[in-house]
Amino acid sequence: MMQQRTDYRNMTKSIHQLYKLQDNGEPLVCLAPMAGFTNAAMRCIAGEHGAALTFTEMTSDMGLLHEREKTWQLLERFDDEPPVVGHLYGSNPQTLAEAARKVEENGKFAGIDLNTGCPVKKITQNGAGSALIKSPQLIYKILSAMRKEISIPLSIKTRLGEHPGKTAIFDILKAAEDAGADLIILHARFTSQGHGGDPDLDLLAELKSRASIPVIGNGGIRSPWDAWRMFKETGVDAIMVARSAIGNPWIFEDIRAGLAASEPPEEYNPTRGRPKRDLNKVRQALIKHLNYEQSLIEHNRSIYECPDRVQSVASTLATTFRCHLFRYLHGLKGSSYLRSHLYLLNSMDSIIAAVDNCLEREEAYRRRVVNDE
Ligand SMILES: Cc1cc2nc3c(=O)[nH]c(=O)nc-3n(C[C@H](O)[C@H](O)[C@H](O)COP(=O)(O)O)c2cc1C
Repeated sequence: MMQQRTDYRNMTKSIHQLYKLQDNGEPLVCLAPMAGFTNAAMRCIAGEHGAALTFTEMTSDMGLLHEREKTWQLLERFDDEPPVVGHLYGSNPQTLAEAARKVEENGKFAGIDLNTGCPVKKITQNGAGSALIKSPQLIYKILSAMRKEISIPLSIKTRLGEHPGKTAIFDILKAAEDAGADLIILHARFTSQGHGGDPDLDLLAELKSRASIPVIGNGGIRSPWDAWRMFKETGVDAIMVARSAIGNPWIFEDIRAGLAASEPPEEYNPTRGRPKRDLNKVRQALIKHLNYEQSLIEHNRSIYECPDRVQSVASTLATTFRCHLFRYLHGLKGSSYLRSHLYLLNSMDSIIAAVDNCLEREEAYRRRVVNDE
């Protein structure tokens, strides 16, 4: 089947304008906010591989207002990153508005986003994250207060509603539009689904058809095919990838190439999982990411009195990088050995040695498979 070429330039124009993004006519693929992951190092790697817009980890309004170092550190960024949106959570219109103003004054951010999707109890028990979905009126109050304080683009990232019997997204859209938000991002699942199950593309399409502001679609994009399908079936202005970008920055260029091709991408096959990557490329990206992570730790230590100062840079690095390391090496021979020998990974050199060991085993395995064929 020939692919009907889509004019992404028209669909994404307003997002390009909002965030002052270069418009080369390609679809916009963004990196989603992920607590514990999307720091400056991950955002940089994602940007180098084609993420057009990225989001910080979620950041507490109260932490910013109380000048907590741990909180401000979440908003550190490198100068040469792609445009970054500061992603805030809270439940009080005044404190969120004040925090948003501080973030804008910081001058490093292309926009500010309100989290109304996080289902984690620690967040919802204080009325923040997905607890806000229960009250579109409060969302309206919060966004209105933030809108008054900031002039950079204001967005909201949300879900469909609490559970399938309680769709709230259209009330949330109205609240966002009435409050003067510039953009809505929909993780097309209900809070009750957590991160599982299929995203509801019909409701995402309906949101897009009703919205007077641009819509970014999110949820379940694991491959160029998923991305193609979301654009095609919903008409969203841009898409956003979360979990599939962890240890896999190539997903952004895969998607862009898949959408630019004349044929639709091959349908995603969950049993096959992620594509096998060239091992030199894996090594290069992983070590670059590791270096960014180290630079970020050193940068933060030059500014903040970090509580983890008692630890060496190397051991902080070894701890913070673990979650990425295993995603880069997922499915490769030797990665399970690495997982059971975590205590060995306590410095930059030991991480690189372990990575090399794993990649050598995988290379030998791939050679054996080719020889056997
Ligand atoms: C580890 C992790 C942390 C996340 N942190 C946030 C967050 O801070 N704010 C937010 O709005 N969503 C957060 N999310 C949700 C993602 O942004 C995204 O909406 C969700 O994972 C669905 O996208 P995916 O199917 O591409 O993973 C997080 C998801 C994961 C897996």
